[in-house]
Amino acid sequence: MKRRWILRLSTVGLVTGLLFGTVAFVQAEPKAQSGDVARGKTLFVRHCTGCHGPEGGGDGYKFHSGPDPAKLTSPSIRKKSDDDLFQTIHEGKPNMPPWNTRLSQEESRDILAYVRTLAK
Ligand code: HEC
Repeated sequence: MKRRWILRLSTVGLVTGLLFGTVAFVQAEPKAQSGDVARGKTLFVRHCTGCHGPEGGGDGYKFHSGPDPAKLTSPSIRKKSDDDLFQTIHEGKPNMPPWNTRLSQEESRDILAYVRTLAK
């Protein structure tokens, strides 16, 4: 009788553990938090600093017309959601080319993780 209880308890424990483990995994999976900042920095230097400047200060390039490169250190960038910034990186903006043909999802995630370290 006692052994059955222990067995049942450990089954419940196992199932709960699996359940919570899965939830934690699913929550941890998407976007910036999971990106690799160091790799993102390398990619950023290669692809983005030409316009956004070496520190992302928006001082890399001045266009003759249209919007200037965003200042990635500004609080307005910090307030935007990962989804918004992800979309900008993938689909571009006026004066910013889309990167979805050149960067994989994973690379974009790494870059976004790096961009998140710039915004104060
Ligand atoms: C050819 C120049 C150019 C390059 C290269 C470029 N950007 Fe941009 N980016 C811009 C301009 C211009 C804007 C502002 C667009 C606007 O205000 O509508 C901008 C805006 C942004 C924004 C702000 C988006 C928002 O929602 O406000 C982010 C984030 C960004 N760029 C990230 C990147 C990243 C990451 C890369 C490298 C993969 C990159 N950019 C490469 C020109 C560029």
